Amino acid sequence: MIRVAIDGPAGVGKSSTSKALAKYFGYAYLDTGAMYRAAAWMCMHNGVNLDAESLDEQEITEMVGEWFTGDHFDMGVDPEHPEVLVDGEDISSLIRDTSVSSHVSKVSNILPVRHVMIAAQRAYINREAAQDSFSKGAGIVVEGRDITTVVAPDAEVRVLLTARPEVRQARRSGQATQTAGMGPENVVARDKADSKATSFVEAAPGVTAVDNSDLNFEQTLDKLIELVDMAV
Ligand code: C5P
Repeated sequence: MIRVAIDGPAGVGKSSTSKALAKYFGYAYLDTGAMYRAAAWMCMHNGVNLDAESLDEQEITEMVGEWFTGDHFDMGVDPEHPEVLVDGEDISSLIRDTSVSSHVSKVSNILPVRHVMIAAQRAYINREAAQDSFSKGAGIVVEGRDITTVVAPDAEVRVLLTARPEVRQARRSGQATQTAGMGPENVVARDKADSKATSFVEAAPGVTAVDNSDLNFEQTLDKLIELVDMAV
């Protein structure tokens, strides 16, 4: 099975290109950012004040552990339907809200939470590897911040997608993901918060950096297809 690991900062276009790449090859698709977003959303909907001066990390870790190791959470790995389900409710669009984007780093920076998530992400990857089936092709595209370095450092294809901050901010501002009345989120601020727990600014050894500041969607996708083609 081919594992394609794609890391990168906010607003670089990871999700759209990763999904298109998975579709192109008939691979499964895993959006690890959606898992952290779901964890933050679930905290916010279970009375955890993520704006608090100091967070009860143990309580949050226990909650996240219960949600992500039990039957509460599930996520589609079909790139056409990557729905995020909590107790059967589809929260895919809710987790894109600006309020989730601005709080997600508080949860993802808790180290024991990351350990729960990394284990859950590896379980998804292993499940696909075990199926390795004709219908889905034989591969998975996994996108996030620490996939090339921590979750799947032995992936067959490892890419760090980057773009200049002003380009990423402009892309994000053009997306209709904001709550009415709120401005677009500051991608640089989120990158700074995320950098405490993950390292996605420089490509790790063996990871191919692709700067798509001056590439459009199709050109970025072509570049990624080329990298996968070289590995299969
Ligand atoms: O990729 P996306 O912007 O949806 O990720 C949302 C958040 O999830 C990131 O800002 C980061 O806090 C967290 N994340 C992470 N590790 C990953 C993927 C996402 O910490 N592998």
